[in-house]
Amino acid sequence: MDKRRIAAALLAAAMLAGCGETADSEDDLMIRASVDHTAATSETSLPLMTETITKETTMSEKPTETTTESSTTATTKKTTTTTEATTTTVTTTTAPETTTPPPETTTLPPTETTTTTEATAAPAKTEAAETKPAAPKEIKAASFMVATTLGSTSITWDAVDGAKGYTVCVRRSKDGEWEELASTKKTSWSTDEFGRNKSYAFTVKAYTEKDGKRTYAKKNEVSEFPYLTQKNGVTYVDGLLLVNKTYPLPQSYAPGGLTPETNAAFEEMRKGAAKDGVSLWVCSGYRSYAYQSTLYWNYVARDGSQTSADRYSARPGHSEHQSGLCADLNWASRYFNGSPTAIWIQNNCWKYGFIIRYPEGKEDITGYNYESWHVRFVGKEMSKLLTESGLTLEEYYGLTSKYNY
Ligand code: DAL
Ligand code: ZN
Repeated sequence: MDKRRIAAALLAAAMLAGCGETADSEDDLMIRASVDHTAATSETSLPLMTETITKETTMSEKPTETTTESSTTATTKKTTTTTEATTTTVTTTTAPETTTPPPETTTLPPTETTTTTEATAAPAKTEAAETKPAAPKEIKAASFMVATTLGSTSITWDAVDGAKGYTVCVRRSKDGEWEELASTKKTSWSTDEFGRNKSYAFTVKAYTEKDGKRTYAKKNEVSEFPYLTQKNGVTYVDGLLLVNKTYPLPQSYAPGGLTPETNAAFEEMRKGAAKDGVSLWVCSGYRSYAYQSTLYWNYVARDGSQTSADRYSARPGHSEHQSGLCADLNWASRYFNGSPTAIWIQNNCWKYGFIIRYPEGKEDITGYNYESWHVRFVGKEMSKLLTESGLTLEEYYGLTSKYNY
């Protein structure tokens, strides 16, 4: 441990003197450290919770809100689906340009142009046409998944009835040619070939085969699947800022507060909740890298291990709070789970562009315990999609949330 960690450990020990309890959420340390809840988003004090959780059901006054911060703009973009090819773009350094599917003429690799369906060709071609099997059905976009961790690409899809195999193709630049990568009888394919500094689009097409000739599905559905972009060290998936255990933010990333969009969405949600008699406030919004570092190492000291703290507190650089796109509402405590307000948030936050970022039962996927209080702003289209699908960001985009150190 370096000096900073020792100091943090001592601080935490002092805070927790007389308490041998081990926690599973951020709450306990925050509660015990708190004296002033108007400073909830300040970096000079820990997030504050001076009220007891029993007040949750009877609360009538509105706590001071502390979400007035400035800065960067959240970017959200919807996955679009059309009917040309099952295509995924993985971009890691340049901003995603559009989700426009490849033109129809580019959905087949050059070698396939003579093997597409021509069953009703002119008589002179009948003989050749007769040797061709019927084209298989297209791969459904919904089944086409590309998981991208930096440096590794894994593609999976559902089997298509009657297909003899599948061909995976890549387009190495937005305007480039489609290039055949591999044909497989399996329904998955992975590679480490594609590094983190370029943009790629993938398509997978089912084919049938007769006398050595292949007939490809005439039309595949497009799954304009997410691509990872890295800009100034910040990772975006499908244009959406991503931060989790796999994808950190740079230490220098410091919007200084909740983004204007997040603030506005919260304000809209707060008013909506008030109409239902529910009072919402932000108990912890933006947190800088340094502040998260203090919090995290305090929890490590309290619990006696990183393994324990890692279940509910992000390591510095890995907290969504550093993005200014999320907020802990009311009480960041496991005792908040199941409360009337938590249920209201669960049922309604999507209407305002938020998701419950760490849902119950998805701990192994998000990497964190259930947090009914932690909402992430993703925009209304995305929050609807995610909520309807019941998927986390990691599941929706086929991403991991795991530390590699
Ligand atoms: N409690 C969440 C995971 C954080 O520390 O950002
Ligand atoms: Zn949180």
